[in-house]
Amino acid sequence: MLIAIPTEHSPGERRVAATPDTVRKLIAAGHQIAVERGAGHWAAIPDDHFSAAGATLCDDFAATVAGATLVMKVRPPAAAEIAALPAGCAVLAHFDAWRYPCFAELNQKRISAYALERIPRITRAQAMDILSSQANIAGYRAVLLATQYYPRFMPMFMTAAGSVKPAKVLILGAGVAGLQAIATAKRLGAVVEVFDVRPATREQVESLGAKFVEVELSAEEKASLENLGGYAREMSADYQARQSALIAKHATQADIVIATAQIPGKAAPVLVTADTVAQMRPGSVIVDLAVDTGGNCPLSRADEVITSESGVIIAGHGNLPALLAADASAMYARNLLTFTGLLTDKDGRYAPQLDDEIVVATRICADGQTLAADLQIPASPASQPEPADATA
Ligand code: NAI
Repeated sequence: MLIAIPTEHSPGERRVAATPDTVRKLIAAGHQIAVERGAGHWAAIPDDHFSAAGATLCDDFAATVAGATLVMKVRPPAAAEIAALPAGCAVLAHFDAWRYPCFAELNQKRISAYALERIPRITRAQAMDILSSQANIAGYRAVLLATQYYPRFMPMFMTAAGSVKPAKVLILGAGVAGLQAIATAKRLGAVVEVFDVRPATREQVESLGAKFVEVELSAEEKASLENLGGYAREMSADYQARQSALIAKHATQADIVIATAQIPGKAAPVLVTADTVAQMRPGSVIVDLAVDTGGNCPLSRADEVITSESGVIIAGHGNLPALLAADASAMYARNLLTFTGLLTDKDGRYAPQLDDEIVVATRICADGQTLAADLQIPASPASQPEPADATA
């Protein structure tokens, strides 16, 4: 089948959904590949590397997707892009389906959409898990971003000109991004504390040499956090008040706060309140990775670095993987290559394995129908807002 790899046109998006390596493998599996010129520019992949791998180069989005059976993207298609997609094709992307506004347009053209962020966290799916591959990069890059604004050293130094204390880093959320942030901050010599709503993360945090700080949980709260497939859930107001007090205590002693806490399909929890920011030391830095879903800090702004009245630097960045576009694209592209194996038969024809739980979980619309029962789909295209911009 013909697989199209368009350039990502969302502002600030620098990744691409294929690399010469994955193009070669897709061609070996019997597919033809069309790549939009410039698609790999920010990921350090010149056009001629794609053509050397066997792809056909096309001048624009419409020419790239013309006749395609499968379109591989990073960001979900905007309404204008859907207008150019062939009717009945399939699209793979990080749809962020719970807030994607263009289902009606997809259904009108009977386009199949595979929302890759919904891949179940099962062992067999690990090689396709775009959330893990990209969150790992975000956690690493968040620490480097913090060092850019932090006006002091990260490691301890003893020099003839005086000694320097190591930076204290507080990491909120010990999922994939948080764990990588711990490892990165430790490598730079910082002292690291970590908070997560899931007590099960304590062992992983401690094995990376960081200190776990926790809110006391009642038996009822402990039970409510079990059997959620490893994900967090929204907590009671009482828990949130205890959590706020604990985070305020540790954040006011920290030099850097890396906030990574997310709740799948919901707004991010507010963890670092405006009051806490006001008590933090001038020159402290907060990097808010959850800014696109409301933020762990209410003062953070998407794509902006602001300084609070108290002198705290707050960097809101929802798309850190785009800043490491070459490796982020390589990992994302390999995730998609593996996933494509579930959508094709041995002769390379489009034949999704409809009884496979990974296909079932990700196939959010097909044949003019929205299939994911949990999604709130707006009634008509006219009432829908444009998709949110990517971050720069
Ligand atoms: P995420 O991006 O959904 O959330 C990040 C972290 O924020 C989570 O650890 C979550 O517990 C935490 N969080 C949410 N609300 C919070 C609050 N109020 N206060 C503090 N922390 C809060 O998480 P991610 O990185 O997607 O990982 C989710 C789970 O999936 C983890 O258990 C992870 O180990 C698991 N996983 C399993 C894989 C597998 O193949 N089996 C692969 C990757 C992840």
